[in-house]
Amino acid sequence: MDRRGFVTSGMAAGLAGVTGTGGALGALLDRAPGFAPGKKDADGNIRLSSNENPLGVSPAAREAIIEAIVESNRYGGRRREVMEALASYLDVATENITLGFGSTEILQICTQAFQGPNTPLIAAAPTFEDVMDYQDTMPFDVHTVPLLADLQHDVQQMRELSKKRPSVVYFCNPNNPTGTITASADIDAWIAEAPETTTFLMDEAYLEYVTDDRYWDALKWIEQKPNVVVIRTFSKIFGMAGLRLGYAVTHPTTAARLREHSVQNSPNVLAGAAAVASLQDDGIVARSVAVNDEAKAIVHTTLDELGLEYLPTNTNFIMHRINGDLGTYRDRMAERGLFVGRDFPPMLEYNRLSFGLPDEMDQWASAIKDFRAKGWI
Ligand SMILES: Cc1ncc(COP(=O)(O)O)c(C=O)c1O
Repeated sequence: MDRRGFVTSGMAAGLAGVTGTGGALGALLDRAPGFAPGKKDADGNIRLSSNENPLGVSPAAREAIIEAIVESNRYGGRRREVMEALASYLDVATENITLGFGSTEILQICTQAFQGPNTPLIAAAPTFEDVMDYQDTMPFDVHTVPLLADLQHDVQQMRELSKKRPSVVYFCNPNNPTGTITASADIDAWIAEAPETTTFLMDEAYLEYVTDDRYWDALKWIEQKPNVVVIRTFSKIFGMAGLRLGYAVTHPTTAARLREHSVQNSPNVLAGAAAVASLQDDGIVARSVAVNDEAKAIVHTTLDELGLEYLPTNTNFIMHRINGDLGTYRDRMAERGLFVGRDFPPMLEYNRLSFGLPDEMDQWASAIKDFRAKGWI
């Protein structure tokens, strides 16, 4: 069986299982608009712009959600079970973990815990903007450092800036919106020598999609370096973006500090149930990576055929060039029911395309080839 067949038949078996054990409620949910895998909205448009997982939550998680609905009137959110399942999955202690309403809540918590008028944020440009956006409501400076020509973080320049005073350094690795990685050895060399007054926010939202062997995660630092915060999410590889669950992994003293800023009774019970089931679903990571690889191959082949340059991606999206005006390109794609990104200054010659199901990427490929035939791109 080819790879596309493997992913699709595995999915079908899993979905059938959910309907069977979920009874009437499961059958109802199966009929709910938008519950099928893929990125099609209820209005029929395909959304290839938000870096979501096209497979949706795993079949095991759907089953767990259906069973947990009856607990929705209670507080608790299966917090203890989530903490224990995560600790076992990551091979850390529950004391190392802080849960958040998506990893964006973790980023907000880190801002509250570490930033201040005398503690600037040092980040790449372009990168995931969320952590910088809190500047609107909290007083701290932001120093942005352009990515290098090879699209790695300029570790040396960021390091120089951090020497002036206590700082918070944000590493989005792999980086959004470029999809590229920064060699972990370079970051490690800095972390190893940095004073405790330099706090490292290591955003690893796309970790599982990485193929570049110059990359490894930052978990090894958490026991010896309380100033390292590893930030992860259930939104991407586990397909739970709408359920909102992310977490930080840190030294226990840092976790205690972060938890002072986090909301009570987190997570919600459905996210909690889905997370535990997802962590126990051995196949979910491989399935998500496999379908992503298929989509990526279709996109690479199409862009190669059209001679449009693209950045090496280690994520579930890709930045590629477009000949002509980007806004017009996106409008034309939208007319075909395909939503394909937004502006990421200063990279205004590139479009960021999120990967969907292979069939959805085939639709994108056919549209962009048609645009070429019309002389539009
Ligand atoms: C690098 C990065 N970090 C964090 C997030 C936020 O994810 P969530 O709040 O859904 O966990 C995203 C979402 O796209 C992201 O790209």
